[in-house]
Amino acid sequence: MTDVVTDVVTGQVAPDEAWWRQAVVYQIYPRSFADGNGDGIGDLAGMLSRVDHIVSLGVDAVWLSPFYPSALVDGGYDVDDYMDVDPRIGTLDELDRLVAALHAHGIRVIVDLVPNHSSDRHEKFRAAVAAGPGSPERDLYIFRDGRGEHGELPPAQWSSLMGDPAWTRVPDGQWYLHLFTKEQPDWNWANPAVHAYFLEVLRFWGDRGVDGFRVDVANGLTKRLAADLPTQEELDTPGTFEVGDHPLFDRDDVQDVYREWREVFDAYDPPLMAVAEAWVTPDRRLRYTASGGLDQAFGFDLLRATWDAASFRRIIEESCALAERADVPATWVFSNHDVVRHATRYGLVGGDENDWLLSRGAHPVEDRDLGLRRARAVTLLALALPGSAYLYQGEELGLPEVMVPDDERQDPVFWRKGGKEIGRDGCRVPLPWTKDGSSFGFGDGGAHLPQPEWFARYAADLQEQDPSSTLHLYRRALALRTRLQAAARMEWLDLGDEVVAFQRPGGWCSVTNFGTAPVPLPQGTVLLASDDRGLQDGSLGPDTTAWLRLDGPVDPALDV
Ligand code: NOJ
Repeated sequence: MTDVVTDVVTGQVAPDEAWWRQAVVYQIYPRSFADGNGDGIGDLAGMLSRVDHIVSLGVDAVWLSPFYPSALVDGGYDVDDYMDVDPRIGTLDELDRLVAALHAHGIRVIVDLVPNHSSDRHEKFRAAVAAGPGSPERDLYIFRDGRGEHGELPPAQWSSLMGDPAWTRVPDGQWYLHLFTKEQPDWNWANPAVHAYFLEVLRFWGDRGVDGFRVDVANGLTKRLAADLPTQEELDTPGTFEVGDHPLFDRDDVQDVYREWREVFDAYDPPLMAVAEAWVTPDRRLRYTASGGLDQAFGFDLLRATWDAASFRRIIEESCALAERADVPATWVFSNHDVVRHATRYGLVGGDENDWLLSRGAHPVEDRDLGLRRARAVTLLALALPGSAYLYQGEELGLPEVMVPDDERQDPVFWRKGGKEIGRDGCRVPLPWTKDGSSFGFGDGGAHLPQPEWFARYAADLQEQDPSSTLHLYRRALALRTRLQAAARMEWLDLGDEVVAFQRPGGWCSVTNFGTAPVPLPQGTVLLASDDRGLQDGSLGPDTTAWLRLDGPVDPALDV
């Protein structure tokens, strides 16, 4: 494996093309980060005013969720124009300024690329509808005649991932495919013109100076739609299709697209990086990084794990083994804009603690203190592991999920599944920056999703004054990590069944207690603990992680 070159004196990662291999990436969901113009929607002016916050965290990169012009049917993942900024969010000039401001602090910028589908307001989709059946314009998307005597039935009775049917009819009678909402028509990746268009998009952003892409639904894009379409049941039943040959998802041939993109990425110095969002099994995930295309894929396995040492150990072991096979460091993710915040997931007691979609009617009791303690513990655990970590805005404040009232929900997952799933609004509520003031400092014009009163307790300005706050913990952890994390190696330490402990190069280790009783710590100096209350007379309390510098000789396998 290639180790990141680190200057042992300054702790600075040298500017090399593998910057992402051990990077900590901070995700900004633009509409909910900070609102500079007081219209209730976060924007680039807001982000520019909060660059200091991002810098103070000590992250290596920022990933911007979509800021493109959009009807916001799916939170911006319905893109009207891939090469512009939504006027409610700002301008291309402001985006350039943000990139420059972050670059000035050595922070890279990754933008979200949404290649599986556009919005139905995209000029190419409008043209496809206007041009009619059989036209080259129409062939950029996936149109079909319907079944039934007059084509009045959809080509197949499939449901989209958002709940409503996956085929929608246009006025001339044809139907188009959309894996998500009907406002998100799928591109036809069998058409070379779609390939050419996305190469243009990649170059547009590469030339503007961004450092890489997060690839939305990277396991979508290419499809194999035979004349006779399978049923929904066939689509959903494992084993109906050969692995890699499912009609809609995770097809082997999607890697051809990414190999094509690689040529564009490599034309930049350093090359652009790309991370895949692909909810696939770990061994399939490998393909996204090992086929000469993308660099990384999100590892969602820990995100789905219950609070249990054995599961954590198994997943870490598996992820690290895969990383070694692919020569691509693992990635660790606990929260993003699609899942219940992990400070809430880990605090769900008396119910299924892994009920991360919080289905309606089954909302278990939430123990906020416990959730936060565990969230802080897993964050320290993940930051100690080799590989890169993705953090989601607000987790550095320990924010819990918000139960947004039904009538104020925005997510189509809630509305189009008839309220059966509560959707993802609860993790997208605008951030509390100040304990007082309009919208807790988010902006002067309210917040597009309602902020609860208890948000005041999590405000950044309050946490600033409290050395034991989650905000300070993140800063300290990231600062220490830069100094300590010089290589991609780790060795397990056996401290009992309820403990996840491992040693890292330079003689330091991370210990997490998943059990209910204190456990003795190895001999050494504690560098940082996720909760100082968990440290007592050489032992580590439940739900706590500690980083230590070990006494005695350094394990030669890990010496740097
Ligand atoms: C994954 C994104 O993260 C999610 O927010 C979106 O709804 C779907 N892809 C569709 O673009």
